[in-house]
Amino acid sequence: MLGVGLAMTGPGAGIAAAESSAFRVIAHRGASAHAPENTLPAFRKALALGAREVELDVQLSRDRVPVLFHDKRLGKKTNLEGAVRDHTAADLTRADIGSWFDRERGADETYAGTRLITLDELFAALGDQVVYHVELKGKSPALPALVLERVRRFGLERDVFFTSFSREQLLRVRRLDSRARLGWLLSDSAAGSEAFAAAIDRAAVDGFAQVAVHAARITPELVARAHRRRLELRAWGVKTEADVERVLAAGADGLTVDWPDRVLARLGRSGR
Ligand code: G3P
Ligand code: CA
Repeated sequence: MLGVGLAMTGPGAGIAAAESSAFRVIAHRGASAHAPENTLPAFRKALALGAREVELDVQLSRDRVPVLFHDKRLGKKTNLEGAVRDHTAADLTRADIGSWFDRERGADETYAGTRLITLDELFAALGDQVVYHVELKGKSPALPALVLERVRRFGLERDVFFTSFSREQLLRVRRLDSRARLGWLLSDSAAGSEAFAAAIDRAAVDGFAQVAVHAARITPELVARAHRRRLELRAWGVKTEADVERVLAAGADGLTVDWPDRVLARLGRSGR
């Protein structure tokens, strides 16, 4: 898969690349439009809908276990208060991370009682059925090594991208593993084509595999620049169908999205 999109940077190449199986349709926090984000139901739903790549957020518990959670504070989406690092993994994995979804989204299925999970639980459940885009949340210096240790223990080195908004976190992974695939999430606050171009150049020098740019900021020029440097460029922050079209037209290599089913249908890849 890696590299197919990279060769196609001429006029119109974007749509062609996207309609090949190389375009990465990455279920953001699982199929998080359909089930509570970063939970087993969300990841299983992603698989059921045909997605073969998932994104997830990882933080460390107080006892330094990698667990899946996005927000800085637990209160909005669980029945715990404080931050992930304030609680042991045992306490976190008893937390209800599904009731908020029932209250706010009112889906057909109910998710009350869905448990927050560890990274081990996700890897044990899905194994090598998917490509994982593991986002190292925050700047804990211990996080990269502890996540890498899990990836190795499950034999998933070829199935994982380590991603982060923090270049330093990615460099920590690189120091521990010269072959790890690294994806730098470029913050929208660094917006401006010159800043993004400089970041792409930096990522190439650092030996990263991928950069991710907010969907609203992607341009064919940025994609071409990344491809010239043998980097994938994919989108984050996709909210609308128009965002999807913009990403496709720019010739990007993929996107994270809460509703992978709609993008797969757009690409004629439903029900794989
Ligand atoms: O694809 C990266 C994207 O997940 C970053 O944004 O807020 O969902 O972590 P966020
Ligand atoms: Ca994320």
